[in-house]
Amino acid sequence: MTGLIPLKKPGLKVPKFNPGAVPAHVAIVMDGNGRWANARGLTRVEGHKAGEAALLDVVAGAIEAGVKNLTVYAFSTENWKRSPDEIKFLMGFNREVLRNRRDQLHAWGVRVRWAGRKPRLWLSVIDELRAAEKLTSKNKVLTLTMCVNYGSRVEIVDAVNEMAADVTSKKLKPGSITEKTLQKYLNTSYLPDVDLFLRTSGEQRVSNFLLWQSAYAEFVFVDTLWPDFDRTSLWDAISKYQARSRRFGAAVDQPKGKSSK
Ligand code: IPE
Ligand code: IPE
Ligand code: MG
Repeated sequence: MTGLIPLKKPGLKVPKFNPGAVPAHVAIVMDGNGRWANARGLTRVEGHKAGEAALLDVVAGAIEAGVKNLTVYAFSTENWKRSPDEIKFLMGFNREVLRNRRDQLHAWGVRVRWAGRKPRLWLSVIDELRAAEKLTSKNKVLTLTMCVNYGSRVEIVDAVNEMAADVTSKKLKPGSITEKTLQKYLNTSYLPDVDLFLRTSGEQRVSNFLLWQSAYAEFVFVDTLWPDFDRTSLWDAISKYQARSRRFGAAVDQPKGKSSK
């Protein structure tokens, strides 16, 4: 375990963001742990260990920046393809991080939520996720969603199955289903759409993370490997996000040389 991460770091000042344009929901694919470790002659699990401090630092930085929702990909439904040793390590590690960090997160006013599926996930991990959720349920500063055994397609499929069951029991009228209805059945129904989708390690793909929720997200891909990522890297990404022009399908007519007034 790494030491205590301070909520504010002496000498580090959060940039002056446009307060109206701070992303309400930041989603992060915390990628590159294995490569970080292997590059140092270490085994992959050492990279996962080093990623813990990055996560805590980024949570602190998100709070400082005024981000209300942070969703992080910790273990995907596809990560079961990894070696039994790495899977075993990751399960135990997730459990320990949750147990060791929940008081700190609670003290910061963070509400912890779990998104993901029960099948295959270690019960001891589910227990720790539930314990962290319970302890922090009333917190309002930031919602931290831990995606553990999460896959976006299966999240949608699970929602569709639940809707089908509700149609059978006449709780839901077929033909009346809208985007809002489906949203309500998602595991992550309490979250707003993703504003900023961030991935570390140079990979430029989504890897089955928040497909529905990221329909209009701004994507920022950085080369930094996750253990080297910190709050200042998050702030850089927010600055990039603020420089983007989000149009959501709308358009502004601005012929060159003419004033837009
Ligand atoms: C991300 O780092 C953490 C998890 C997927 C659990 P990786 O383990 O994917 O590291 P790389 O991408 O192989 O370097
Ligand atoms: C995505 O990273 C999952 C997590 C970060 C938990 P992966 O490393 O598993 O994704 P791919 O295999 O490179 O697409
Ligand atoms: Mg990876």
